[in-house]
Amino acid sequence: MQHRSVRVPDLKARKQRGEKIVMLTAYDATMARLLDRAGVDGLLVGDTVGMVVLGYENTLRVTLDDILHHTRAVSRGATRALVVADMPFLTYQVTPAEAVRHAGRLLQDGGAAAVKLEGGRPVIDAVKRLVDVGIPVMGHLGLQPQSVHQVGGFLRQATCRDEADALVADAHALEAAGAFALVLEAVPHHVARTVTAEIGIPTIGIGAGPDCDGQILVSHDMLGLFDGFVPPFVHQYAHLADTIVAATQAYADDVREGRYPKAAPEATATRGT
Ligand code: KIV
Repeated sequence: MQHRSVRVPDLKARKQRGEKIVMLTAYDATMARLLDRAGVDGLLVGDTVGMVVLGYENTLRVTLDDILHHTRAVSRGATRALVVADMPFLTYQVTPAEAVRHAGRLLQDGGAAAVKLEGGRPVIDAVKRLVDVGIPVMGHLGLQPQSVHQVGGFLRQATCRDEADALVADAHALEAAGAFALVLEAVPHHVARTVTAEIGIPTIGIGAGPDCDGQILVSHDMLGLFDGFVPPFVHQYAHLADTIVAATQAYADDVREGRYPKAAPEATATRGT
């Protein structure tokens, strides 16, 4: 495992060397520290924080202050992984100037190294402006959860020829605008394969098949921590929700039965002393 910090240009170098890029979402310092220790290349402070941490039904209510708060925490926890902050709904779509001001806060106050935003040609002016002022941008095509109402749900995208062609054109536009990487969410594998072959920047897939240059999952899904809907493409590498419930029941039983705490010896230290 490599210990040097991962930087934005490293991702393109990995694509060129044919090395897969590993990303996960993170929302707090403890999880960031653990995922970083496990050697992930990038941590996305995704606006999925709204669903898996804050209890919203979609990502639309997540604010810049929410992402800023969680980005600060993740930046404190991560020492090696590239920290990318998601730009929430309406923080980059209105004007490129607003996009710069908001993204700037995520780097300056949040400690992120880059931002991610959803969309292709409709947001290309914002992407260009951000890149011009030195803010690295990760694009996001395919299923764009901030458009959930327009598309009618969290549905697979680019399933017909016209939509696939439009997605490929958007990917080229993002690369030309200076994006350094591109998330492809919930698109057919052959579409992700085409984009990955045609563009020079790395594609990071989620529900987009094995041919992307890297993969990202929502860490709460991958770890079996989120007990709501889990997309079918997710592989759960652990079942932490079950572990937490079982541990909590054991603790509750011990307290109720008088088995915890033990009568002696008396513990004196508390956290932080
Ligand atoms: O917000 C998020 O977590 C994301 C990932 C699912 C790619 O955009």
